[in-house]
Amino acid sequence: MVEDLRLDSLEGVGPVTTRKLSDAGVHNVMDLIVRGPVEIADITGMEKDTAEKIVNKARQHLVEGGLIAKDFVSASEIYKYRQSIGKITTGTNCLDTLFDGGIETQALTEVYGEFGCGKTQFAHTMSVMVQKSKEEGGLEGSVLYIDTENTFRPERIVAIAQAHDMDPEKVLDNIIVARAYNSAHQVLILEEAGPVIEENNVKLIVADSAVGLFRAEYLGRGTLSVRQQKLNHFVHLLSRIAETYNCAAIATNQVMASPDVFFGDPTRPIGGNVVAHTSTYRIYFKKSGKKRIARMVDSPHHPEEEVIFALGEAGIVDPEEVEKKTKKTTKKATTKKATTKKAKEPKVEATVETPEVEATVETPEVEATKEIESDDFDPVEE
Ligand SMILES: Nc1ncnc2c1ncn2[C@@H]1O[C@H](COP(=O)(O)OP(=O)(O)OP(=O)(O)O)[C@@H](O)[C@H]1O
Ligand SMILES: [Mg+2]
Repeated sequence: MVEDLRLDSLEGVGPVTTRKLSDAGVHNVMDLIVRGPVEIADITGMEKDTAEKIVNKARQHLVEGGLIAKDFVSASEIYKYRQSIGKITTGTNCLDTLFDGGIETQALTEVYGEFGCGKTQFAHTMSVMVQKSKEEGGLEGSVLYIDTENTFRPERIVAIAQAHDMDPEKVLDNIIVARAYNSAHQVLILEEAGPVIEENNVKLIVADSAVGLFRAEYLGRGTLSVRQQKLNHFVHLLSRIAETYNCAAIATNQVMASPDVFFGDPTRPIGGNVVAHTSTYRIYFKKSGKKRIARMVDSPHHPEEEVIFALGEAGIVDPEEVEKKTKKTTKKATTKKATTKKAKEPKVEATVETPEVEATVETPEVEATKEIESDDFDPVEE
């Protein structure tokens, strides 16, 4: 392990450079790697060559200390290294199956879906789970929660912690909440996060929502490229931090219905491709009546599969949990519910499917044929 992460522990970095760097928000060797030479040159005003040299030295320093991987490694070394990657249980069997054990450290997991599908509940649940002991599937770490929509609720944390037999006060103490007021502030929080992560043993960073403020501030087609560029910077920073500091990162992304998509799912992530290309894992949450469906959309090593989960007092829960609870409350009500549920479930499926079908072919095609027909008849009428 590298004991010394101070900037002046690097050869050739004296007090002047250290001051320049820390004035620009770069506080330790890790931060140098996270920001990279181009950005370092940009924010400190130093020559690009100098910045490159310093960043390379930082990399060497961390490689020697075993904190980051070497540039050239054998596949078996990577395999061994990947075995040691931390995983955080989701507290449910269904999602743990989907994630093959849980959310990984050194990776960015993007969760996208429409409003109310459970993105924020998932973020809350994971903020509790990461604090569990290693035997129980956690990482005994704390959380940096970047709240951009003012939807962080300590009450939910308390309820989730209680449901998992954890001390709610302790759990709350280990969540550092950073409320972001605008997109620039959101980026700044992350840029300055290094020391906070280091000092508090942060093992999970949440950005909920990662995209919302950018979307609100950059409206219209003309601003799209600027928005994507800024969002790109944020998301890259997030994933580099996750890699460098060996923690997990969750970014949520709301989707809107886009009527121009005729085939497949009519909902698309707002962040578009920027988020998709950077995140290592992408999960799509979909509402299906009271239940939720989670689909692994894009992963380097998971099959594309779906599981059903539910939302409850304990946050993200296995669907059986909800059924068990309903059964417990009143037996009569359950029998009633079961019948209504049977009638309801195909209905829900139908609602999910209908927009696709409607939007797709039927209506426009019929209308189109009608128009062509009347055109054909025009000359006859004349
Ligand atoms: N205490 C609770 N017990 C049971 N279910 C709850 C509880 N609190 C919230 N929920 C469920 O969570 C849903 C809201 O989920 P959540 O806030 O995670 O959505 P979201 O995906 O973050 O939406 P948005 O895109 O608007 O931020 C509610 O509709 C409700 O079904
Ligand atoms: Mg939310």
